[in-house]
Amino acid sequence: METALDQNTLAEVKQLARNRRPGFALTRSFYTSPAVFDHDIKSFWSNSWIWVGHECQIPEPGNFFRFDYGTESIIVVRDRQGTVHAHVNVCRHRGSRVCLEASGKTSVLSCPYHAWTYDLDGRLRTDRAMDGQFDRTDYSLFSANLIIFQGLIFVCLSDNPPALSPALERLAPLTKPFEFEDMKIAHAASYPVPANWKLALENYLECYHCAPAHKEYSRSHSLKDPASMTGELLSALAENSCQAGLPLTVLNETGPDADNTGCDIYYRRYPLYPGYKTGSRSGEPVAPLLGELKQYDGGTTDVMIGPLNSFLVYADYAVGYRFVPRTLQETDIQIVWMVRGDAVEDRDYSLETLTWLWDVTSQDDERIIRYNQQGVNSVAFQPGPLSSMEWGIEAFYHGYLSRLLE
Ligand code: FES
Ligand SMILES: [Fe+2]
Repeated sequence: METALDQNTLAEVKQLARNRRPGFALTRSFYTSPAVFDHDIKSFWSNSWIWVGHECQIPEPGNFFRFDYGTESIIVVRDRQGTVHAHVNVCRHRGSRVCLEASGKTSVLSCPYHAWTYDLDGRLRTDRAMDGQFDRTDYSLFSANLIIFQGLIFVCLSDNPPALSPALERLAPLTKPFEFEDMKIAHAASYPVPANWKLALENYLECYHCAPAHKEYSRSHSLKDPASMTGELLSALAENSCQAGLPLTVLNETGPDADNTGCDIYYRRYPLYPGYKTGSRSGEPVAPLLGELKQYDGGTTDVMIGPLNSFLVYADYAVGYRFVPRTLQETDIQIVWMVRGDAVEDRDYSLETLTWLWDVTSQDDERIIRYNQQGVNSVAFQPGPLSSMEWGIEAFYHGYLSRLLE
């Protein structure tokens, strides 16, 4: 897959990375330069693992969905034998998008331009009126790398993808009690924000902004203030999580210390405030307990898989977060709510109570990210120092800038 940038662009982007002052925010060009954005899509996103969906979206042969970012588009499809494939959504004839629908069911993938038709496994099946001119086996759809981890589907376009599997092996026993593979997507929403994708991701990676910007979240989540995570709160969580069947291990393989792992990975359960069994308006449960859990422990788990994919897992639901670049300053904040697979809407959960917290919180985020981009666009902007609560941003910069300088 061609992911190289032209030499001038590459030199310009590398110079920016070399000039970055450690412990400070990135300079304006990282959020305003088309050259950087081109690099972000071709070299960073296309060389990173991206969480694109859940197996529950494609339960039967022929089921497919599309995932798009920047200039790229990927088709995830289950073939007749039940195998899941990720195909690059670019026709091998003259390059049209093949799949135009967001999701659906089909027996073949047919290009809308000149009707070349591909099997679900990507092989070219019919090349209309070109019989004998070339060997069809040379013109399968390009495939993307694919990993399914506990039902979560990850793809990567690179010829040389980061080594995600060893990190997932370490994460697997920690996430096992939630039984992600048996979850279903209850709701998905997109919050478009006129900002560069890095500002949206950086906002997620720190909770320094939580107290001033998220009134509802801050009522229940102790992460908004490290001083509020008292010994009492932590020991209550330890006891309750143990009874619920959840490990309290912290797995932090991000930033400079993670150089040898090949892929950032993070797992940490932290306490909600007393009175909150889950992330809800009232503090009461919003769905049946996940997986093997035996009780509501009053905690929530931050999980990060690679630099681009984050999850928050309460005892009764999980939320997935992606910050998907569309153009230089257009990003979709994508939020996905998951509950146990056998839960029935309006019997076991209501979408309104389930989605309330992360809907209001994401609306807050959309607003603060938008204002952030407006300020960063100003000629007056100069990067300021990061606080200790913004360590996740520093860890992200480390991986991001290292990739730029490779
Ligand atoms: S571009 Fe797809 S068939 Fe021609
Ligand atoms: Fe936020």
